[in-house]
Amino acid sequence: MKDLSVLQVFSYALFLAIMLAPPAMLAGRSSTTMRADLTHVDSGGGFTRRQLLSRMAARSRARATSLHQQRPRPRGHPATLPVAPRDVGSYSTEYNIHFAIGTPRPQHVALTLDTGSDLVWTQCKPCSVCFDSDIPAFNSTASKTSRVLPCSDPMCGPLCFLKSNACFYIYAYGDKSTTAGLLLRDTFVFRAPSGKGGTVLAPDITFGCGVYNAGNYRNKESGVAGFSRGRASLPMQLNVGKFSYCFTSMFDSDKYSAAFLGTPDDLRAHATGPIQSTPFVHSPTRPDLYYVQLKGITVGSKRLPIDESAFAFKEDGSGGAMVDSGTAITMFPQAVYEQLRRAFVEQLPFPAAEDPQSNLLCFSSPPGLEAEDANPPKLVFHLAGADMDLPLPSYMIAMGDDQLCLVIDHTETDDTVIGNFQQQNMHMVYDLESNKLLFAPAQCDKL
Ligand SMILES: *[C@@H]1O[C@H](CO)[C@@H](O)[C@H](O)[C@H]1NC(C)=O
Repeated sequence: MKDLSVLQVFSYALFLAIMLAPPAMLAGRSSTTMRADLTHVDSGGGFTRRQLLSRMAARSRARATSLHQQRPRPRGHPATLPVAPRDVGSYSTEYNIHFAIGTPRPQHVALTLDTGSDLVWTQCKPCSVCFDSDIPAFNSTASKTSRVLPCSDPMCGPLCFLKSNACFYIYAYGDKSTTAGLLLRDTFVFRAPSGKGGTVLAPDITFGCGVYNAGNYRNKESGVAGFSRGRASLPMQLNVGKFSYCFTSMFDSDKYSAAFLGTPDDLRAHATGPIQSTPFVHSPTRPDLYYVQLKGITVGSKRLPIDESAFAFKEDGSGGAMVDSGTAITMFPQAVYEQLRRAFVEQLPFPAAEDPQSNLLCFSSPPGLEAEDANPPKLVFHLAGADMDLPLPSYMIAMGDDQLCLVIDHTETDDTVIGNFQQQNMHMVYDLESNKLLFAPAQCDKL
């Protein structure tokens, strides 16, 4: 049997949990919080740190390129229509969210968590064009609550089979991956927050039942869960007002990360440092995505001489600093990266060179030296009203026996993306009601 990974074992456990526990029902806007487990896309893949970093770097660059190429968005085009054929985000992303769809026997789905797009979809039976997946395709016939969205539904876009009164969708991602099929509505089944046991049912969630799915999909997932501000996204449809995630170290592949839809439990109790917040800022070209105001960077005791305008939106709508769940490695415009690179080279007493596999900046260190023993400079991102003081393992790691590498990269554009490697061991709360990002250092596997 090929790779009976933690993920598969986990999915059986999830089923059991869902079958045995009495559900709580969600109606309208609710204070009920839903929980879901997250797995890293490379977890259980048996990769070395070096391979993991190279893979993450390659994906981050591809995603940055495709997010950039989507600009400018056509004027007046609503950012929320789930069914128009257009480019939305790069599909290529990093974490899968696990939950289930349908009643009375919920079917497990593993969807790539994407703050860069809105549609929620999963591979469906009977499939015309499907990718190989460890997760069985969703069978809507087996769900009592499943129904096809009628043409008159406000969530239905311009694509409809009038004869059968069935709404369908076509969706294309920036990397040319596509999905098409019927739009369905069904009950989504989540776990209740930790300690409470049981499940939370969210009825009437619209999602794509994908029967033509072509492109760059992976076998540990069954589709994509959009988490943008678009009205078709999972947090928007659930009307939760807040969502959050907390990524465990991606080098600990046996640990699950957590996502919460709704107010996360005990944010304060689980924080290992101060809870800080910074307002989201509006992007003129991508109002559906999550941008923050970055003002500067400190390396060690030195604030880098970078003008704030390096992180601002440009005339054409490019630039800005986006917080993204789907980009692994934080990327800065070239000129900013050069400053950062120089500061690390000045402040670490080891010879520096680009690693040929990942293209990241690495230092030749004495054999066996761990990053924390090298006393590397601290790294702080200064956001409006908040300082993101990065834990060492979130930017500098030992690779091989005699290298320390800085896990920060650069774009060929004006865009800054704060990636999920830098968000590890940090509880990141997207407060959509107050339009701000909250974050607190946390032990994510304890949530
Ligand atoms: C879908 O579920 C129905 C009802 O349980 C079953 O009869 C059918 O065989 C299933 N279809 C597929 C393709 O598995």
